[in-house]
Amino acid sequence: MRGSRRISAYLLLISIVLLVSSWLFEIYGEEQRYFNAHPVMLALSKAITGLEKGLAGDDSAAVLSHAKTLKKIAGEGLLSIKPQKNEDMLQLFNEYGTKINSLSSEMVNLVKKKNLAKVSQLVEEVRRTCISCHMKFRTGNDEKGLFPLLGNVITGKVKILKLDGEKRTDRSNVVVFLDRVNNDAGVSLPRKNPVVSQKNRTFGPRVVPIVKGTTVDFPNDDIIFHNVFSLSKTQIFDLDIYSPGKSKSVTFPRSGWVKIYCNIHPKMVGHIIALDNPFFSLTDQKGIFVISGVPDGEYTLRTWHEFGNEVRKRIQVSGSSRYNYLLEIQEDKKFVQHKNKFGKRFKSKY
Ligand code: HEC
Repeated sequence: MRGSRRISAYLLLISIVLLVSSWLFEIYGEEQRYFNAHPVMLALSKAITGLEKGLAGDDSAAVLSHAKTLKKIAGEGLLSIKPQKNEDMLQLFNEYGTKINSLSSEMVNLVKKKNLAKVSQLVEEVRRTCISCHMKFRTGNDEKGLFPLLGNVITGKVKILKLDGEKRTDRSNVVVFLDRVNNDAGVSLPRKNPVVSQKNRTFGPRVVPIVKGTTVDFPNDDIIFHNVFSLSKTQIFDLDIYSPGKSKSVTFPRSGWVKIYCNIHPKMVGHIIALDNPFFSLTDQKGIFVISGVPDGEYTLRTWHEFGNEVRKRIQVSGSSRYNYLLEIQEDKKFVQHKNKFGKRFKSKY
């Protein structure tokens, strides 16, 4: 009787020692990884980790508290860093800080409505924002993204060569996407409808990649009338003439390229690129793309560009790793003036 009690006391003691040491190891191990990191970055990283743990455990209270922390750090911390090197950097810190701040505000609202699935989408978007900033600032240490990766992350840059072989300085508006991830099953729609605005006789943004099934809003934010339409095989539609301040919407159930025009203004051109899964990215001015949360597997990485050829690259990803590619796009098409919705030439020039 006595003997067995002593044994259980020993066992208890041993398990307490093990528990405490693993806990200490976890804390110091983590500090060690982030040794020397900027305190704001550390705090951001901890908030993201906390959010992920909260989401994995379906713990709304934890998710809410980390979302609030993230919002606070992005607002006060990230926006308070004033890089000295140049104006561009300062502007980027402001831009990214504001973006993460507004994404986390949205998160807070969604947790309150108990919509944790959409919160996951937002966390993924914040992660992509972190990574794309790191790609701009931390030259040479691309692989050092010392915050947890869920799934694989595919990043890189595109280079665009014009018809005459010159390099394009603006490398934006390239869609980089993956073929058949998870056989394109279980696709989730975006938490908000993407918006293509009509303003100053321009569609903005000019290129909008979406996952098929998404509804896109087309508000008329101009002071004149417009008539959005498409004669593309993927989706033929005509929203007819509508006045400033009004908005109409279109759902795109099939994947493919949809060219959008205005029946009044021949120079207005936009592109909806409907894809089979949400693993895509639109490049920024520097040509940077970030696709995150990619499950292990073998895929084709593909590009779409208004005037360029399609680049295809077979890739294999596994083990929640980071992969970086440089893709070179060669322009091989010129702008050709399209016809109006009746297949006739436009009467006006503007
Ligand atoms: C505006 C640009 C920018 C954004 C946005 C940004 N970071 Fe950073 N981050 C940096 C820079 C610059 C460094 C390097 C700082 C240094 O070397 O002192 C850094 C370093 C880090 C580090 C230190 C370890 C390492 O990898 O070098 C971590 C961790 C980190 N960031 C996490 C995050 C997380 C998580 C987010 C998003 C919630 C984020 N960062 C968003 C610019 C950014």
